[in-house]
Amino acid sequence: MIPDLRRPLIVGNWKMNNTVAESIKLVTALKHLLVDSPHIDVAVAPPFTALYSVSVALSDTNMSLAAQNMFWEEDGAFTGEISGAFLKDVGCEMVLVGHSERRNLFGETDKMVNQKLQAALKSDLIPIVCVGENLAQREKDSTLDVIEAQMRVAFSDVAMHDFEKMVLAYEPVWAIGTGKNATPQQAGEVHHFMRTWLMKHYDAPTANRIRILYGGSVKPENAPALMKETHVDGLLVGGASLDSDSFAKIVKFEERMS
Ligand code: 13P
Repeated sequence: MIPDLRRPLIVGNWKMNNTVAESIKLVTALKHLLVDSPHIDVAVAPPFTALYSVSVALSDTNMSLAAQNMFWEEDGAFTGEISGAFLKDVGCEMVLVGHSERRNLFGETDKMVNQKLQAALKSDLIPIVCVGENLAQREKDSTLDVIEAQMRVAFSDVAMHDFEKMVLAYEPVWAIGTGKNATPQQAGEVHHFMRTWLMKHYDAPTANRIRILYGGSVKPENAPALMKETHVDGLLVGGASLDSDSFAKIVKFEERMS
């Protein structure tokens, strides 16, 4: 069971999908479906171009707005990049950092993840920091070593009081967009490892307050079993968050359980 101090958080990562009009349509449908979800935190992460419009649409709800990425510099000659201050300016409260698609397709390193999450904290954004192993690493039985190495570099020089503001996400790369999700036991094992790591490097009260989300082919059918794991505090949903009924089903089930 999730202790009271960790409210479940469900985040929809829309990735590179939805124009402004499509985003407004999706978020309007979600607003109607999720009017009554007081025990659980919900956020959506639209593409940059739709952030402002979705922020306006969400202004009369408890749902939060997240961005999918940011740059670590504050301003200047960085063509094509977006700063934390710009994200705050359009109403974001959270930002994904180190998503595996950013790491694998755009060459983001653990060091860059560290720079981004430090910049997010400085901008008063909640970073949702993603870690996860690929298939070869899982098959070689090096999952926990990979997670450890990613956490060690990504969280270097993060003070305890800042750590409390973060959300972590375990997203096994082999489960993203593939229809293969980690079993609840596989997810539970890695989440437990991550919580133990936090206890060792910070302290037990801090580690027990941090929410660790699971992501990778989450659907209404598999979400309840994943959420039953003690250290799974929420979900980062890709494909299923593009359909208002699927996403609302996932959220509403958790709302009933909370
Ligand atoms: P899918 O749910 O489409 O597998 O995506 C997971 C993900 O990458 C969420 O950030």
